[in-house]
Amino acid sequence: MIAGFRNTALRRALTSSALASCGTAKTGLAKSQFLRGIVSATNAGGTQSVTGVIKHDHRELEDYYNRIISTNDPDEQARYQNLFVWELARHSIGEELVVYPAFEKFLPSGEQMATKDRKEHQLVKEKLYEFQNLKPGDARFATTLLALFKDLKQHMKEEEEEELVALEGAIEDGHSEKLARSFERTKMFVPTRSHPRAPDKPPFETVAGLMTAPLDKVRDMFTKFPID
Ligand SMILES: [Fe+2]
Repeated sequence: MIAGFRNTALRRALTSSALASCGTAKTGLAKSQFLRGIVSATNAGGTQSVTGVIKHDHRELEDYYNRIISTNDPDEQARYQNLFVWELARHSIGEELVVYPAFEKFLPSGEQMATKDRKEHQLVKEKLYEFQNLKPGDARFATTLLALFKDLKQHMKEEEEEELVALEGAIEDGHSEKLARSFERTKMFVPTRSHPRAPDKPPFETVAGLMTAPLDKVRDMFTKFPID
């Protein structure tokens, strides 16, 4: 049992703060740009926008986090810890390979935005690297997860409320869906489940291998996969 999670009031507070991430978009974006961003996130025809797939990942990460903190069963915590670590590692790599280059290409302030996001990712990845080596019974398990998620929550909020809204407003019709498909292809970085288009063996066997691989190497590997 994790001492930090025994207190029900604390647990409830943590859970509600984790979920309070989707408010209204901040000012600073033209109204039409903002509206276009919202529409693009849920476009017609069933195809997902890049905002849609990223938000989906964010909600999954919140769900895994909540499952870890709302149980005292170490086995269940370990399962969701593994899922959380893998999903976050893959999500981060996907954003670095697909989304941040799009910020740089399409937004006037995209370079600063991408630099800031990469720095934030680095901090989250360092904490994630530490967290993945901890067991549910370890004294630092709870505090490390809480610190990690606090940073992650702020990062997700900025992406959803500002950066992706700006990107959706700046790109041509149909490009968001292309970015979404590219982003989804980064899901081939899995430890055990095989992606239909991935090689027989996953490119990375461990999350540490994925996170510590130079991004150039990951990018080279990624570009060798079929495009559609
Ligand atoms: Fe994200």
